Amino acid sequence: MLKYTTRTLRRQKMKTILVTGGAGHVGSHIIEQLISTDPNNNVISLDNYFTGKVENHIVGAEYRVGHTKDIFKHIKETPDIIFHLGEYARIAPSFQDIEKVYDMNILGTFQVVEFCRQKKVSKLVYAASSTKFAIEGNGRNQNPYSFSKATNVDLINNYGAWFGLPYAICYFYNAFGPRENSDPNYGTLIAKYERAWLNGEKLKVVKPGTQKRNFTYVGDLARGIIQVAQKGNGDGYALGNTNSYSVLEIAESFGNNIEFIDGYPGRAESGEAPNKAREEFGWEATVNILEYIDDFCSQNKKVRPSKKVLS
Ligand SMILES: NC(=O)c1ccc[n+]([C@@H]2O[C@H](COP(=O)([O-])OP(=O)(O)OC[C@H]3O[C@@H](n4cnc5c(N)ncnc54)[C@H](O)[C@@H]3O)[C@@H](O)[C@H]2O)c1
Repeated sequence: MLKYTTRTLRRQKMKTILVTGGAGHVGSHIIEQLISTDPNNNVISLDNYFTGKVENHIVGAEYRVGHTKDIFKHIKETPDIIFHLGEYARIAPSFQDIEKVYDMNILGTFQVVEFCRQKKVSKLVYAASSTKFAIEGNGRNQNPYSFSKATNVDLINNYGAWFGLPYAICYFYNAFGPRENSDPNYGTLIAKYERAWLNGEKLKVVKPGTQKRNFTYVGDLARGIIQVAQKGNGDGYALGNTNSYSVLEIAESFGNNIEFIDGYPGRAESGEAPNKAREEFGWEATVNILEYIDDFCSQNKKVRPSKKVLS
């Protein structure tokens, strides 16, 4: 009898949480925190492995391979929460990849939002991009990636208004930290700089180098989006470090082997996004990018080629 009661209580406590893009950089940290804070969470990832990696898998989660546009086929459960991160996620190559952007972000996200409406999911939490706040709010038109992300924000806000969809929207600023992707096409700046530094190559800085970014630790982003899932409602949860640094400052902090290169189109300074995560529950970023780079360089200096090779 006692055994039955305990099992019943456990079953009541278990939450099914879907993370789209769970094999990606930020998604893997969300899964890690969800499992470590409550091992009763039944965490499922849906990822098409476009940039996701098996090495990012976290023990305790279930990984399903699939595109978000096929979410009805892959997810028979009704999750309590969906963290929707599974989208094409890079600016510079999004011009040449516009078909992929449309397919993965516009077609895929429409099905995710419909799934939430039809299955009455209690909360959809979307990882939007802060790039839409650039150029006095016109940043959405800078490039295909920003356009798709801002369009999905409009879609989700409208589903809230039209159908009463429960949702919250976060805006991420440049993520850095463990499991960051250093791929030459789809990698992020800090991971590419780490790789170049380790290989003794020059760090490429897009001219003029004075462009600033609010680099934000991936563990802070994951903690923030989970808090937004628990306490947030609607649009406007910016998750960005208040300190910003220019790309040149970042490159210089690794050492002085720098090469200036011509810029790619489609990216202006990040703009200010609404700050509800700080106002409503005091979210703050805890890791400074320059200290992180300093630690990385001290920990890895032994595996770096000698100065002779570098010069
Ligand atoms: N990293 C940042 O600085 C940043 C900034 C703003 C917004 N975001 C958003 O946060 C999310 C995660 O970013 P990330 O940096 O971890 O990127 P990432 O590329 O590491 O992760 C995205 C994951 O989604 C998967 N994916 C892509 N399209 C999919 C689809 N249609 N169906 C299923 N899986 C799909 C990829 O394989 C990958 O595993 C993205 O939506 C991105 O637009 C990230």
